[in-house]
Amino acid sequence: MPSYVITGVSKGLGWEFLRLISNNPNNVVVGIVRDKPATDKRVLEELKERTNIHILAADVTNYDALKQTAAEATKILGGSLDYLIANAGVVSMFDAYNPIGELGAKPKALEENLLGMFNVNVLANIHLYNLFMPLILKGQVKKVVAISSGLADTDLTNQYDVTLHSLYAITKAALNMATAKFNAQYKKDGVLFLSLCPGMADVGHYKDATPEQLEHLGGMTQKFLEYAPHFTGPVTPDVAVQDVVAVWEKCSLENGDGGAFLSHLGNKQWL
Ligand SMILES: NC(=O)c1ccc[n+]([C@@H]2O[C@H](COP(=O)([O-])OP(=O)(O)OC[C@H]3O[C@@H](n4cnc5c(N)ncnc54)[C@H](OP(=O)(O)O)[C@@H]3O)[C@@H](O)[C@H]2O)c1
Repeated sequence: MPSYVITGVSKGLGWEFLRLISNNPNNVVVGIVRDKPATDKRVLEELKERTNIHILAADVTNYDALKQTAAEATKILGGSLDYLIANAGVVSMFDAYNPIGELGAKPKALEENLLGMFNVNVLANIHLYNLFMPLILKGQVKKVVAISSGLADTDLTNQYDVTLHSLYAITKAALNMATAKFNAQYKKDGVLFLSLCPGMADVGHYKDATPEQLEHLGGMTQKFLEYAPHFTGPVTPDVAVQDVVAVWEKCSLENGDGGAFLSHLGNKQWL
């Protein structure tokens, strides 16, 4: 019975991971969310026959609450865990449309946004890995996956002048390094750590964009089209998670994938 712990399953990609993975009754899935009653209700409404889903409550930035979920998951899963999926993340809209040099005009907001995202996207995942490592070490599969972003790729940034989402990209680059450091420590124990980008999936992040902001986004899309002429726009979340699962299934320490930062295609092609 493969077991999974996935953070941020309330909506977006996390919900799709929960839906896809729990569709196999042999899997046991523990989802971590901030608002447990709301997710319990959604599970009851949309996935009601699935007794292999367990929802636990924690804001991932609250160390004690996260520690409590590890204790609860230990009981539910009998002391071992196969897959840990660090999906919960913040995509700030503060840096979504304007380059980093322009964000400097609002230093306080810049600081708040960067540190706020850093707490969720990086620090919380370091605690998550550490707290769940005893379970992972006792698991059969031993895979830990960070849901990262191709926006953290410096080559892409430099070659296509990708100026948008700078602070978010900084946090994902830090997440990739944290994940690689865990890999460096734990590969001798057979644990595979990966940072995977799900491609671009429409989860409604830009739904409130003003016409001016949409113009900035259009500029980025043009650059993405130069980079990947086949790009036809964001995919639906269900497609994105299927791609990501296929990559983590294919990757192994034996193939030399430990600590790698890869796209939904299993390489460095981000779109
Ligand atoms: N969508 C894309 O195209 C894309 C591309 C690259 C990478 N990603 C990454 O994919 C992951 C999922 O994002 P998404 O696109 O599905 O966005 P989303 O719809 O905004 O979902 C984010 C999830 O993270 C949870 N979360 C945020 N802060 C949290 C906290 N402090 N404690 C616990 N949970 C928290 C949210 O829970 P609440 O409901 O409580 O807010 C939600 O479940 C993120 O790591 C994101 O960076 C997405």
